[in-house]
Amino acid sequence: MSRGSLAPVDITPSARRLTGSLRDIGYDFLSALADIVDNSVGAGATQVNVDIVFDGENSHVVICDDGDGMTERDLNEALRFGTRREYDLGELGRYGLGLKTASISQCRRLTVASRRSLTYRRVVSRSLDLDHVENTDRWEVIAPPRQSVVTDYVTWLDDGPGTIVLWEGLDRVLPDRRPEGGWARRRLDQLAERSRDYLGMVFHRFLEGDAARRFPLTITVNGEKAEPWNPFAPMESGRIELPEQSFEVSVGDLYGRVRLGRFILPSRDQFSSAAEFERMSGPLKWNRQQGLYVYRADRLIQHGGWSGIRAVDEHTKLARASLDFQTDLDRLFQINVAKMRVAIPLEVKTLLERPINELCHRADSVYRREGREVAGTTEKEAPEARTSVDGRELGAAVISAALEAGEIDSFGRVMERLRATSPEFADRLGW
Ligand SMILES: Nc1ncnc2c1ncn2[C@@H]1O[C@H](COP(=O)(O)OP(=O)(O)OP(=O)(O)O)[C@@H](O)[C@H]1O
Ligand SMILES: [Mg+2]
Repeated sequence: MSRGSLAPVDITPSARRLTGSLRDIGYDFLSALADIVDNSVGAGATQVNVDIVFDGENSHVVICDDGDGMTERDLNEALRFGTRREYDLGELGRYGLGLKTASISQCRRLTVASRRSLTYRRVVSRSLDLDHVENTDRWEVIAPPRQSVVTDYVTWLDDGPGTIVLWEGLDRVLPDRRPEGGWARRRLDQLAERSRDYLGMVFHRFLEGDAARRFPLTITVNGEKAEPWNPFAPMESGRIELPEQSFEVSVGDLYGRVRLGRFILPSRDQFSSAAEFERMSGPLKWNRQQGLYVYRADRLIQHGGWSGIRAVDEHTKLARASLDFQTDLDRLFQINVAKMRVAIPLEVKTLLERPINELCHRADSVYRREGREVAGTTEKEAPEARTSVDGRELGAAVISAALEAGEIDSFGRVMERLRATSPEFADRLGW
């Protein structure tokens, strides 16, 4: 038989197998929750209420928003793995997967109830139930089963449009044994607190009203407001801001702009209060919170670390930089489904090296000054800080110069030659 005569064969994936494997694509509880809130933000919500409710085996998580809501048709499409739709520039969604994959990474049953109409209280609801998928091996959603607690929450939709997302059967959150025990209760309490902090960080620009939206967003977790956590401490008068830089990036058919903001936070004694210094240290504390904060369409994706540009160092712990890109550069930054990770492309890293190293040098001298003041000396700047230039910084300056001169190809050959003849120098230059 010739190749051309083979009739196409249907290879629809096994729903049972694929939903099983999609549970493990890399979400943790916090990133899964943030992916649900992304959708609320996308739907124009001004209020998002998260409740993490302990009730033994019936413990559940519910996210209510006052966004645009969905019609029945929208809801069925929303629950399809790989929702069919187009995105505008700046929309947080990208894959048509988050609602489903984030939810089943944490629970066995996802129920969504939604109201679209401004005037009629017409609520539609559907469940994606892994037990049903397991039993039938079919890609199907069903009416919420009788035992679902979704009915306890639909009053949220009494006054206008909005959406309720409910996670039940929290098998990935609660322990297998004794889900009704004290340990499980403490775990949920602790998750509520961490979720509040995490959402306050990831969506801080929306909470502050900085992002290009008509109304600022309010998020509560178990009734308490998530306070915005802005890594650059804008209210601290002792903070130093270096000039913002903007770069045009063009790789293959992709073209866009990235913006780099650079800040040196005040040292402990220069902070407005010890409590504020503590709060601004962030979830991973000062040392590990130094570095790049990468924002995609104003939503924080990466918080800290230098992405291989340089090493995390106690001396530069006060240095933090924002890197902003728009969704037109998604492919270049390889944003992952869980929106937890970006890969900063080599072309961008090269552009960042010099300004980042400059920032870190300045942060280093603020840190040293603090150390000397604590030790009681008044010397302005240590001689070694004035004269020594970091080899990597020098290396980065040469690369930038080669780029600016349009000689990056010939420069690549120079670099290779140096690596072959004097690898120790190439190392010191960070090549
Ligand atoms: N809270 C909500 N309010 C209104 N519409 C929603 C809500 N949640 C989801 N949707 C709709 O369902 C669709 C599917 O959501 P889902 O999170 O699975 O994918 P996505 O947001 O399009 O992309 P990504 O996989 O990157 O998150 C969304 O595009 C949106 O149209
Ligand atoms: Mg989404």
